[in-house]
Amino acid sequence: MTSSKVALITGGASGMGLAVAQTLAPKGWTVHLLDFNKAAGVAAAQSLPNSQFHQVDVTSWKSLSGVFAKAFSYQTVRVTYKSNYQYPSQYCPIYSASKAGVIHFMRSIAFPYHHTSGIRVYATCPGTVRTNLMNADEWTTFPEAYFTPISRVASAVEMLVEGGDMTDAWGRTVHEGENYGLAVEINADNVYFRDGTEFCDEAMRVVIGATSMENHLARLEEHKAQQNGGL
Ligand SMILES: NC(=O)c1ccc[n+]([C@@H]2O[C@H](COP(=O)([O-])OP(=O)(O)OC[C@H]3O[C@@H](n4cnc5c(N)ncnc54)[C@H](O)[C@@H]3O)[C@@H](O)[C@H]2O)c1
Repeated sequence: MTSSKVALITGGASGMGLAVAQTLAPKGWTVHLLDFNKAAGVAAAQSLPNSQFHQVDVTSWKSLSGVFAKAFSYQTVRVTYKSNYQYPSQYCPIYSASKAGVIHFMRSIAFPYHHTSGIRVYATCPGTVRTNLMNADEWTTFPEAYFTPISRVASAVEMLVEGGDMTDAWGRTVHEGENYGLAVEINADNVYFRDGTEFCDEAMRVVIGATSMENHLARLEEHKAQQNGGL
């Protein structure tokens, strides 16, 4: 039987994706592990309840869309973007650029997705988490004392997908209804909600505000009506 909560987890065969799957699956979520590592993905799905593996390359829309079609035929899908960097790393510039891009992408789609479809989008930004991302030698580059437990990443993602009021380590609470579009930094045992860049001056606030979909609600309503008409 399919449960009402469905998770699609990219990179789900290893590391943080797998840790999130191991947290959600025993709690009744139906879990789809999406990964291009077939051997690890099949083994992971077999080790978890309510789970199945799909071999995909996330850089290929064609590869992803077949899985989306199957999963969206179930009842509820909650999607989180995971794993980005708040800080540039001189160690790997292209990696840093791509991670920063995901945060801007998340901030750009969060309001329209929530307004038109009730979808909450987040970017989780973990500190240093010992996974299969690098080999043992490469991990020695990072200070041992400051690793983030993988279980803390999984519990933070669980908090985000479950929804409701959420409080960070600074004591800032985001309430139900406003709890979307968050960049969530996870470092050691702490979780921090990170704001976007401040405007340099009032003129920039007005210019960027002109492109905000919050100021183009009529366009969003039109889109919503088209979607509903198409159902
Ligand atoms: N480990 C860290 O310290 C850290 C910190 C911040 C961000 N991140 C990011 O978190 C994400 C998860 O990393 P992890 O540390 O859990 O690593 P990991 O290597 O344990 O897991 C990554 C998984 O993604 C899969 N994968 C890679 N490319 C893919 C593709 N094109 N299509 C489908 N699957 C693909 C791999 O097969 C692997 O199973 C990565 O984007 C990583 O850059 C990691």
